[in-house]
Amino acid sequence: MARYLTGIQPSGALHIGNYFGALKPAVELQELGEAFYFIADYHALTTINDPEQLRKNVLGVALDFLACGLDPDKACFFRQSAIPIVTELAWILSTVTPMGLLERSHSYKDKIAHGLSASHGLFAYPVLMAADILLYESDIVPVGQDQKQHLEITRDIVVKFNEVYGPILKLPEPRIRDEVATVVGLDGQKMSKSYGNTLEIFAPEKVLRKKVMSIVTDSVPIEAPKDPSNSIILQLYRLVAGPAEVEAMTESFRAGGTGYGEYKKQLFEGLWSMFEPMRKRRAELESNLEFVETVLKRGAERALTTAEQTISRVRRAVGIGR
Ligand code: ADP
Ligand code: TRP
Repeated sequence: MARYLTGIQPSGALHIGNYFGALKPAVELQELGEAFYFIADYHALTTINDPEQLRKNVLGVALDFLACGLDPDKACFFRQSAIPIVTELAWILSTVTPMGLLERSHSYKDKIAHGLSASHGLFAYPVLMAADILLYESDIVPVGQDQKQHLEITRDIVVKFNEVYGPILKLPEPRIRDEVATVVGLDGQKMSKSYGNTLEIFAPEKVLRKKVMSIVTDSVPIEAPKDPSNSIILQLYRLVAGPAEVEAMTESFRAGGTGYGEYKKQLFEGLWSMFEPMRKRRAELESNLEFVETVLKRGAERALTTAEQTISRVRRAVGIGR
């Protein structure tokens, strides 16, 4: 059975772009193979330096994932930092990682361009990510397009390591989720935390409604027909409504006589009812945080077994220990 592994950074409340682009596919994959999903808290230290915030985010992501259907009996779900061996592997890998490989990282250059300071952690980020993937002997790594280069770096590191020490590490295959369309944000750009154009999955009703009402539209008057082809409202509505409802809204756009405010209300209703069961589940989990901790602890115990086998093999191969 193939092992699927992916990490998610606890960098804030998850939005519906994250849901359709990452959470939902991850939940579907847990049925197909052996799923390893972890919360990348060591990675998050490259951007968050408030300990309370980090702890809060980690718990938030755990709740979001479990509420959205991650089944802890199927997937192995854990905190990255629960297995500190990963940092040992990262160090060992770093000794065979060419500087040039990391210097070419788009993600690093992007982050610096966006004002993050150039720390060693940020620079070495792809090496820790390689360690995540290799420690758990992953076959397939489902990620978004933005992580493609990181997967290439991982594969280069494997080739390099195995060249020097023999066939020790398993070469993983990326699975780029480009079949999942990019979810559009309130302003028409890609929905992203960094653009401030998001709809959070678990935002309170009032907040979510207000955000939906703020979706950018053109200024076609109520009576006039409206163009359905580029409408942000319709693009989002497609994610939460059935084909018949989408068709009805499209027709109504063409007919004219209805204002955008009305469509936004329908979108809000669709969104609100789609996530209703997840909200309920999240509230239950929130009042049972011990259960959440138990899930993460059990996940870590399972992950540790594989991690120890890999690190022993690696230590032996490189000559660490007796
Ligand atoms: P953000 O852009 O809000 O910072 P992240 O980069 O943390 O989001 O995204 C985590 C995962 O969620 C990514 O791997 C990506 O696949 C998915 N994702 C993020 N935004 C979108 C979007 N607008 N549409 C589809 N998937 C998305
Ligand atoms: N860098 C990934 C992201 O920002 C998160 C991540 C960390 C990851 N380690 C991983 C993803 C290992 C896949 C495999 O989305």
